[in-house]
Amino acid sequence: MSGRIPQEFIDDLVQRADIVEVVGSRVPLTKAGREYKARCPFHAEKTPSFWVSPAKGFYHCFGCGAHGTALGFLMEFERLDFPVAVEELARMVGVEVPRGDDAPRQSLEPLFAILERAARVFRQCLRDHPAAIEYLRGRGLDGETAREFGIGYAPAAWDTLLGELGESEADRAALKGAGLIVPRDAGGHYDRFRDRIMFPIRDNRGRVIAFGGRIVGPGEPKYLNSPETPLFHKGSELYGFYEARRAERKPARFLVVEGYMDVVMLAAHGIRNVVGTLGTATTAEHLRRLFGVVPEIVFCFDGDRAGREAAWRALQVALPTIRDGRQVRFLLLPEGDDPDSLVRKEGADAFTARIGASQPLSRFLLDTLAQDLDLSSTDGRARLAALAKPLIANVPDEVYRELLTAELAGRIGLAPGRSAALAGPAADRPGSRPQATRARSDRPSGRGSVGRQAIGLLLHYPQLAPLVDLPAGLATSGQRGAALLAEIHALLRERPGLHPAAIVERFRERPELPHLEQLLAEDVLVPEDGARAEFEGCLQRFASLAIQQRLNDLLARAGDLDAGEQQELAALRRLLASGVPTAE
Ligand code: UTP
Ligand code: MN
Repeated sequence: MSGRIPQEFIDDLVQRADIVEVVGSRVPLTKAGREYKARCPFHAEKTPSFWVSPAKGFYHCFGCGAHGTALGFLMEFERLDFPVAVEELARMVGVEVPRGDDAPRQSLEPLFAILERAARVFRQCLRDHPAAIEYLRGRGLDGETAREFGIGYAPAAWDTLLGELGESEADRAALKGAGLIVPRDAGGHYDRFRDRIMFPIRDNRGRVIAFGGRIVGPGEPKYLNSPETPLFHKGSELYGFYEARRAERKPARFLVVEGYMDVVMLAAHGIRNVVGTLGTATTAEHLRRLFGVVPEIVFCFDGDRAGREAAWRALQVALPTIRDGRQVRFLLLPEGDDPDSLVRKEGADAFTARIGASQPLSRFLLDTLAQDLDLSSTDGRARLAALAKPLIANVPDEVYRELLTAELAGRIGLAPGRSAALAGPAADRPGSRPQATRARSDRPSGRGSVGRQAIGLLLHYPQLAPLVDLPAGLATSGQRGAALLAEIHALLRERPGLHPAAIVERFRERPELPHLEQLLAEDVLVPEDGARAEFEGCLQRFASLAIQQRLNDLLARAGDLDAGEQQELAALRRLLASGVPTAE
């Protein structure tokens, strides 16, 4: 869908959007010099480290590393997909999103509207069906909690929603688009959800985007979820997130459970910081959303085999996300129980105590791996080290990685000083990390390579592009950052005056995006009047780097050069001796 929105429109939109207004209408901003600051909406903090720069069209949090354009902010803060964020921003700016002729404008509004109406029908049906109410009462659910979560009931009929909401062609299209009715082979439709307790799944703003339905009697499947729709992507949604955030603005941690009833029943017992993964495995997107608001996540799974497997998968997804101050813990429940049954049996205090006593990730990791090993034997200890090392190597945070390594050393009886012997390849080279786990908020040390500096300057001062030509051949020189620099330079020549944020937006679907965002988030430390000289200096260093590289190549083959190459070597030496500025 995003491909059909013309890039020029997005350029202009990002350019025209007032990031201070976009952010400021959602987070209270305080003016501080030429920028604005706030307490970061993406992590819990007491003093503001979240900055909005109108000049860059960019926000940046020094605490958690969150950053982006106005469009990126809407995507993160409102949890919107790109095309929806574009719609929203366009609405704020007061322009219409153009679409190609082949793509009739597909508004999501009718889907939101029909889902809201369906939720209302289901709530009314619950009131009209004493047996369904009885079922929920029997499970210990009180009316207030049921109302807060908007729980309803879909009667056994095949056409409840069709009858109530499906009168017009447009309404039936919306019902179908929202996954509420299913087409029949023979023509016509039928209701997807029948004789089920209905749990609305809400987005960050509280709008219903899907449903989960539990069968009231026995029957298969026990739970039925809405299918994937333009509004509902199962792997990124968390049941109860909206309700939890409304109940408690800044919880210290989130508890992740498996079931709808687990979320609802813990809430009924006053434990509000709980979300459910909707029967899917934990995803990186889930963790991103949760770590956006809390520093600690406790996974709470059933004590059975499936629960342990789910916990292990969650651990693997969590390892690459661990850094600075983030914590992951595991609470495995007694076999045969789930949070719902346990909180009813033991009460809230006992359950809260269990959360407090949950295992830190390191213990869960090592215990699980050690389960079938005999640590009294050398073989067993060696095996534990071999199993743990690749997992530990996935942790991007150096300090935490070392702690884990030390804990492993303790388990296998290595003297503390010898734990370096366990350091895997990732720990051998400080600062080097597996590419896949490189964190977006990584802060580079120092100013980085010439290419990095040059790109940073051009991003902050796009007005340099028409003033300074790039040396011919730079783009294809193979030097680090050269091709990207040339691409951005060419883009700015073609679209003079493009705003820094709009340049970054151009790369939304490219792997370079996080690097460019990071560069724009950093300050260049070069005032505008010195920018041109600095930029030209970078280009010169590029050139001398190329010379040195060529020189080294030739020197490496010194005994083996043809006449032309010998001449070239001599010329390069003269050039260097005459004082071409040397790189670095
Ligand atoms: P469980 O089978 O553990 O059920 O599924 P539960 O949550 O304890 O349900 P109750 O207490 O019997 O009502 C855990 C979660 O897995 C998903 C649902 O999200 C459910 O809450 N699930 C389960 C499905 O999506 N489909 C199913 O058929 C079963
Ligand atoms: Mn249950």
